[in-house]
Amino acid sequence: MTRFEALKAREEKLLCRTYGRYPVSVSRAKGSKMWDVDGKEYLDLLSGIAVTALGHCNEELAEVIGEQAKKLIHVSNLFYQEEQLDLAERLLKTCHMDKVFFCNSGAEANEAAIKIARRYQQRVKNTERYEIITFSHAFHGRTLATLAATGQEKYLDGFSPRTDGFVQAAWHDIEALKKAVTDKTAAVLIEIIQGEGGVNCLSPEYVEQVQELCRKNGILFMVDEVQAGLCRSGKWWAFQHYDVRPDVITNAKALANGLPLGCMMTTDEIAKAFVPGSHATTFGGGALVTKAGAKVLEIMERDKLAERAEHLGNYLETNIMALKSPWIKEVRGFGLLRGIQLTCSEESAKTLWNSLIEEGIVINLTQGTVLRLLPALTISEQELGHFIQILDKLLKRIEK
Ligand SMILES: Cc1ncc(COP(=O)(O)O)c(C=O)c1O
Repeated sequence: MTRFEALKAREEKLLCRTYGRYPVSVSRAKGSKMWDVDGKEYLDLLSGIAVTALGHCNEELAEVIGEQAKKLIHVSNLFYQEEQLDLAERLLKTCHMDKVFFCNSGAEANEAAIKIARRYQQRVKNTERYEIITFSHAFHGRTLATLAATGQEKYLDGFSPRTDGFVQAAWHDIEALKKAVTDKTAAVLIEIIQGEGGVNCLSPEYVEQVQELCRKNGILFMVDEVQAGLCRSGKWWAFQHYDVRPDVITNAKALANGLPLGCMMTTDEIAKAFVPGSHATTFGGGALVTKAGAKVLEIMERDKLAERAEHLGNYLETNIMALKSPWIKEVRGFGLLRGIQLTCSEESAKTLWNSLIEEGIVINLTQGTVLRLLPALTISEQELGHFIQILDKLLKRIEK
């Protein structure tokens, strides 16, 4: 029995079976490389699902975390904490927002967005609006409210009744969105680039029309940038590729490069909706994670990781399309949030994905036939080139 097989058997006994695991158990990682418990090396094109944007075990960050862990880890939100303010200042410099709420995950960031939208409508604007409109193939999290926002039957199965107050409109269809709007609509929540949904992008006209519709009808325009945010798309925020100014932004994933930290950002006007006691979390924005978050943002800015993501994303797209494989329809996305749309069946896509893992390439397969790439923003061109070489080899083998 290998160490991996032993671990797998142990897990069967000990953990709730909520995860469909990859056939790998990682024991250590550095940059974009990972090693499994049996010593095999992998190239990581997933980075913990868009989390370790600075690569694994970044030394500067490890040092800051180590120092902070000896100084102050957690005191709760009953206390003022300078570390939160340092990170808030850095975050607010990246966009047009005025205020931040810190939490622990993407789902919690979206919960905060949903709550502030409802409370703003009901306590500041004195309306009875509560409905949140989301879109087909969305992914907003796994709490009961964010599951209802996600709206996909496969995730809702067995969790009835579905939390009330969520309506879904077809993706990228302004007429469908107009039809979904009622006098109960509080907000629209949209991923500017859908990740889990298959790396789906929006046209500038559509995004501007969504904002216009929201403004005309007194609806909040909220963007879920949990996955696409923080330089991954080639700008600080994916919405900055468009001529819009959302009312609320949510983020998590890369914010502390692997420590649990999320945030919801909004304007002074909308922030009036929250007063002491209206929302809270014990862990949210503790000293350790926010100290790490501030360092992450400092490195992203200093090392121009947005520009780097843009450049490497173009490199990926050009070189993958240059393979001219009949198996590849297109490469979608922005920066280093990319989806390779395969032309084959889901079964063949799974076989290709398995062969990539065997060759030491860790990548995600989503929506059956989309290979999703979410590498660290620090990955090298050479490492991406290695992946393209392996992909070429496997595609040629399959074509034969
Ligand atoms: C766009 C988006 N929103 C929300 C979430 C939920 O984040 P978390 O898993 O941290 O709760 C995810 C996670 O994949 C996501 O991609």
